[in-house]
Amino acid sequence: MGKPIDPACVPKRKLYTGEEIPCIGMGTFGSDRFTAEQVSNAVYGAIRCGYRLFDCAAVYQNEHQIGEVFAKAFQDGLVKREELHITSKVWNDMHGKGDVLLSLAQTLKDLKLDYIDTFFVHWPFPNYHAPGCDGDSRNPDSRPFSVEEFMSTWRQMERIQKMGLARNIGMSNMTVAKLEKVLPLCEMKPALIEMELHPCFQQPELFDYCMEKGIQPVGFCPIGSPTRPDRDKSEGDIADIQVPELVDIAKAHGVHPAVVCLKWAVQRGQVPIPFSIHENEYQSNLECTAEDPLTEQEMEILKRLDRNCRLIKGQVFLWEGADDWHSLWDENGTISE
Ligand SMILES: NC(=O)c1ccc[n+]([C@@H]2O[C@H](COP(=O)([O-])OP(=O)(O)OC[C@H]3O[C@@H](n4cnc5c(N)ncnc54)[C@H](OP(=O)(O)O)[C@@H]3O)[C@@H](O)[C@H]2O)c1
Repeated sequence: MGKPIDPACVPKRKLYTGEEIPCIGMGTFGSDRFTAEQVSNAVYGAIRCGYRLFDCAAVYQNEHQIGEVFAKAFQDGLVKREELHITSKVWNDMHGKGDVLLSLAQTLKDLKLDYIDTFFVHWPFPNYHAPGCDGDSRNPDSRPFSVEEFMSTWRQMERIQKMGLARNIGMSNMTVAKLEKVLPLCEMKPALIEMELHPCFQQPELFDYCMEKGIQPVGFCPIGSPTRPDRDKSEGDIADIQVPELVDIAKAHGVHPAVVCLKWAVQRGQVPIPFSIHENEYQSNLECTAEDPLTEQEMEILKRLDRNCRLIKGQVFLWEGADDWHSLWDENGTISE
């Protein structure tokens, strides 16, 4: 085992709720490649290594095993519950009345916790697809975004925060157009918004919008998800870690290009949540936040790498009659009510 990193040395981000969270966390989606045990073992190793933020979700189908690991870590005295920031997400089939509470109850049972630090609405639609289904599959019940439907889900989110079951609530896979519609209606605004962010997909408009509103962006696929499932791969996708300018910066720092993606993310201000089950990788991913920062010039070069290259297009959530995946992101005209 490598030398653990003192969590105190990892920079922090302050949420509008006053809470401080680490500037980096660990993702737990095994991308259909790793078993729940492999992922949960990595979570234990990551706690030992100094990680204090973990991004979970019911749909990753491993919360039960990760819960065993959290319980063991508390029992072994590795970490205290209050030192961890644990997130989870309500899946698309649990947006109905009363379902958010039920979903959180199951997640808390699986994770063996009595509160969650942040609970996210995973996708802003109740459009369900079976885990692991292929990219062409469509659910006939799928429908476009509806402000009314979303707000009815968000009211349930606000209630679980008021009940103290979720310390913070968040949204995921949003757009500025959707936020413009729903934020004025929120009694409690989201403390965090999870979104795809990596050098070739920087979402500057959404990122700046959240920062201006005091909402912390959390960046998923921060390394460009090189090993994502085939259903999320399309022609024309750019592999961030192979872009020559980024590779050159990695060489200059003597690190893997993945690490440059993470340094860039942290220095820009989002909270990246890289995934890896390999100790050498997750160790270097955490370590890099506390040493050898990128120069301003390197940050500028990386800023220019944005190619608007969205990797997680979400096409399995499309409804009948929709043009293509751009509709999910409000890029094919106005959004629905
Ligand atoms: N809210 C949402 O809708 C949403 C969507 C997608 C993902 N997420 C979250 O975001 C997390 C991260 O996304 P992701 O797993 O798709 O993508 P990612 O973190 O960008 O990429 C993960 C892959 O990068 C490689 N890697 C990691 N560290 C490395 C290092 N230091 N050197 C070399 N390679 C390294 C690993 O490949 P190998 O395994 O081959 O080593 C790993 O499988 C997920 O686990 C999940 O928690 C959320």
